Amino acid sequence: MTAHTQVFDQWIRGNFCHLNSQLEQLYWQQDDKANVENIGSEFKQQLQTEGTELIQTLLDEGNTDEGFDNAFDLLGNVGLYMAACRRHEITEPSREKVSPLTEASALAMHIGASIGVTPRFATAHLTTHNKAINGVYKRFTDLPAEQLFIDYNTKGILAYKRAADALIKIQPLGISHPITADLLKIAKQALQDVISSNSILFNKLETDAFFYQVRPYYKPYRVGKEVYRGANAGDFAGINVIDLQLGLCFANEPSYSQMLVDKFLYMMPEDQLMLRDCMRRNSLMDDFLAASACHQQSWYSENLSLFLEVCALHGETAIQHHNQLVEKYIAQAAKTMEQQHLAKVTASGPPLQALLGSLEKLRDRRAAANRTDIRTRFTDINTLKASLIS
Ligand code: HEM
Repeated sequence: MTAHTQVFDQWIRGNFCHLNSQLEQLYWQQDDKANVENIGSEFKQQLQTEGTELIQTLLDEGNTDEGFDNAFDLLGNVGLYMAACRRHEITEPSREKVSPLTEASALAMHIGASIGVTPRFATAHLTTHNKAINGVYKRFTDLPAEQLFIDYNTKGILAYKRAADALIKIQPLGISHPITADLLKIAKQALQDVISSNSILFNKLETDAFFYQVRPYYKPYRVGKEVYRGANAGDFAGINVIDLQLGLCFANEPSYSQMLVDKFLYMMPEDQLMLRDCMRRNSLMDDFLAASACHQQSWYSENLSLFLEVCALHGETAIQHHNQLVEKYIAQAAKTMEQQHLAKVTASGPPLQALLGSLEKLRDRRAAANRTDIRTRFTDINTLKASLIS
């Protein structure tokens, strides 16, 4: 890390967080908590000036080739600054054609393009790749709701990754290998961990605090002339590795592959590689369907039973995410929001109803629900279940 990078990092961990927190307090005191116009102008000005000055020195310093980790970390810091400017409407993508944060955009594009990721902050910057110093990791604010949200996003992501890592190791062993059972058990436990962690988040996170003070930092913003969608907890390969390895989703189905194409650059480069590799492979579900002639073998009933349990748990995590987290913190919360702010609710940009519809389809694919309008594994799961008892 260069001296300038370090000073910028200290600012992000210090005054940046402090200014955002003060602004949040001011917004919160209003009847219309979603309003940011004409509030805390001096704090906003200070945020923009201090950030731009620090970024200018980094831009002048040029390519210091400090390695991937430092470049990724710096991109995160620039991104946090740009996302905060968006949150406070210092910038607003529908108002502008090019980001007025010229220096920050230039630095973000330089780094993003050179390391092969999107030139904005991504979920990994706040969760899995967020170094704590003396127990405190980087955040936008010092609000407890934000910490709770990031803690449980990190836990959920790491648990999904454990499940994905176990499932991907089955490929070279095959579905009949005795150790495949061990890997399926690890995946089961990991998905149970996702469920426990999400349910704690659901019980502890206060709706208004999340909706008005945390979520707005995840809005889309412009870098240079392009608008980049907001980060979300799904921007890692593991979740899709599970979908594809289990066979619950199909990489050649247009809406699913569209989602994969859109998220590639939001993932760490190693995740991009893993997902690409996984998109080329067969699913375990197809392997089990093709092995029905072995239904009387003990490996078949043991491994298939575990496989079906893993599928059911993956479906359960998706149902929980949609019916609890998305419903409570986005859909219900949006209903009470002043109409004028509604267009800006989602992180990815599409209107709320469209977003909810596509998340619902994702839930039903993962849960192998009985739907005729989209391709799900409802029938195949039933065929496999029947093969266990015959
Ligand atoms: C308050 C908690 C949460 C809320 C309100 C929430 C809401 C959402 C929304 C609205 C999206 C769609 C992206 C967008 O806005 O454009 C999304 C995506 C996603 N979220 Fe969450 N989320 C929460 C927590 C979590 C947690 C803890 C996980 C676990 C890792 C998670 C996993 C995902 C995944 C995997 C996606 C990508 C879409 C998919 O593949 O399902 N979310 N979330």
